[in-house]
Amino acid sequence: MDISRLAQRLAEAGQSHLLQFWDQLSPEEQAELAFELESMDFKEINCFFKHAMEASGQTKQEKVDARMEPVPREVLGSVTRDRESLKDWEEEGLRCISQSKVAVLLLAGGQGTRLGVSYPKGMYDVGLPSHKTLFQIQAERILKLEQLAEQHHATKCCIPWYIMTSGRTMDSTKEFFSKHKYFGLKEENVIFFQQGMLPAMDYNGTIILEGKGKLAMAPDGNGGLYRSLGAHKIVEDMERRGIAYIHVYCVDNILVKVADPAFVGFCVRKGADCGAKVVEKTNPTEAVGVVCKVDGRYQVVEYSEITLATAEKRSTDGRLMFNAGNVANHFFSLPFLKDVVNTHEPQLQHHVAQKKIPYVDTQGQLIKPDKPNGIKMEKFVFDIFQFAKNFVVYEVLREDEFSPLKNADSQDGKDNPTTARHALMSLHHRWILNAGGHFIDENGTRVPAIPSLKDGTDLPIKCEISPLVSYGGEGLEKLVNGREFHAALVIDTRGIHEHVKNGL
Ligand code: UD1
Repeated sequence: MDISRLAQRLAEAGQSHLLQFWDQLSPEEQAELAFELESMDFKEINCFFKHAMEASGQTKQEKVDARMEPVPREVLGSVTRDRESLKDWEEEGLRCISQSKVAVLLLAGGQGTRLGVSYPKGMYDVGLPSHKTLFQIQAERILKLEQLAEQHHATKCCIPWYIMTSGRTMDSTKEFFSKHKYFGLKEENVIFFQQGMLPAMDYNGTIILEGKGKLAMAPDGNGGLYRSLGAHKIVEDMERRGIAYIHVYCVDNILVKVADPAFVGFCVRKGADCGAKVVEKTNPTEAVGVVCKVDGRYQVVEYSEITLATAEKRSTDGRLMFNAGNVANHFFSLPFLKDVVNTHEPQLQHHVAQKKIPYVDTQGQLIKPDKPNGIKMEKFVFDIFQFAKNFVVYEVLREDEFSPLKNADSQDGKDNPTTARHALMSLHHRWILNAGGHFIDENGTRVPAIPSLKDGTDLPIKCEISPLVSYGGEGLEKLVNGREFHAALVIDTRGIHEHVKNGL
């Protein structure tokens, strides 16, 4: 194989070392490496590196902190403070859904490193009584919402589901959906597309080899969305389907209200081109970004980029000054998204994440470093807020809408399968109580609405309601009002099931 041109390009880009083991590779390995390298734009990658490193400098960060301002009250809607408007917003959202104007877009290209599983996070089963995976829960919420909108407006509708995967998650995600028959959705309304990948680099901008013939590649961050939307002509697909509004969300939040009609309706009523859902951040060190303004423009300052001093700042009412915690649920109007994809995307900067990246040394030995030895470059999905002309923020309750799955159970007890499972069951327990149902224990005594701590552990009542039965707590009165149940309780489309043995 003649690689003189490739070698020349690599030399010009200062990346000649990528061919240092060429002679030791099999013909297949050589072909694979050459194919990968041919498709890469090294000038562009070097440029990304330079800009990302410049932007990540400490002094610059301190200046960002000084320029941050909290979200002003006038762009903020709240499920608690604006109760009188909620019905209206919800109806507006349902109306848009019934007209098939709303699409959902799932960001599922992450590697789930913290959770420590080798398959995509959406395939994770957190151990609910039904053993449904995150993908299934989300699919069923979409199905139910379509039904609700159809019932309200006596018309057929569809919520297309765009799913962004990466080189690492595409095949397994597609196989999983196919194996499960798209969880009842129509195959043509579930659209997969793949985000880009970038090489990991050392601090001097040298691309890292993780094998003699293999570059250390990683997805280019969830903000890689915009470039891949362009590359795969997804905006055109949305236009063809008559989509006007898009709800973008992350895969890991078990409570996510996919295509939330109230959020969509709020944004539509406010005439917003871009919106973000938030929960109140109460702990300065919680790993959530904060929505705020920097130099008068909206932005999320990510948890990895805010200084502790700023994160700890408090307003006169004692709350954190930067308390608009980003739950990674965003609203975009289609014209706004189109503008971003066609015009603004190249202006988005990569953020730098320092990582321990396994590499082969000059002898070809694989080394697993015990401290960070290089960087991965990622764009962030929310970095386009700065381009919005009418940006709004929608505050919801954490216990109703936010419980992300980030870590494995053995870690620090936060944001793991157990907390996700408990959050969902505790929400469903409250739905039953609000619909007039009750729980009784093994002695036939009613369990108090707020269960007391058992053995020092705060175990929720085991209770799970299929999204196919209720999207957000609606429609349960006829099933549970005035009735008493034993845990574990499962309500699904086949009926009400009590599994007393696995009780509280
Ligand atoms: C994310 C948010 C953070 C927010 C938190 C809430 C970003 C950049 N950060 O942080 O502000 O407070 O969620 O839980 O959005 N993904 C891709 N491609 C990638 C990388 C990630 O699609 O290259 C997807 C993941 O599959 C996941 C989502 O983006 O669905 C979030 O990724 P993750 O790395 O878990 O973000 P966090 O750091 O938790």
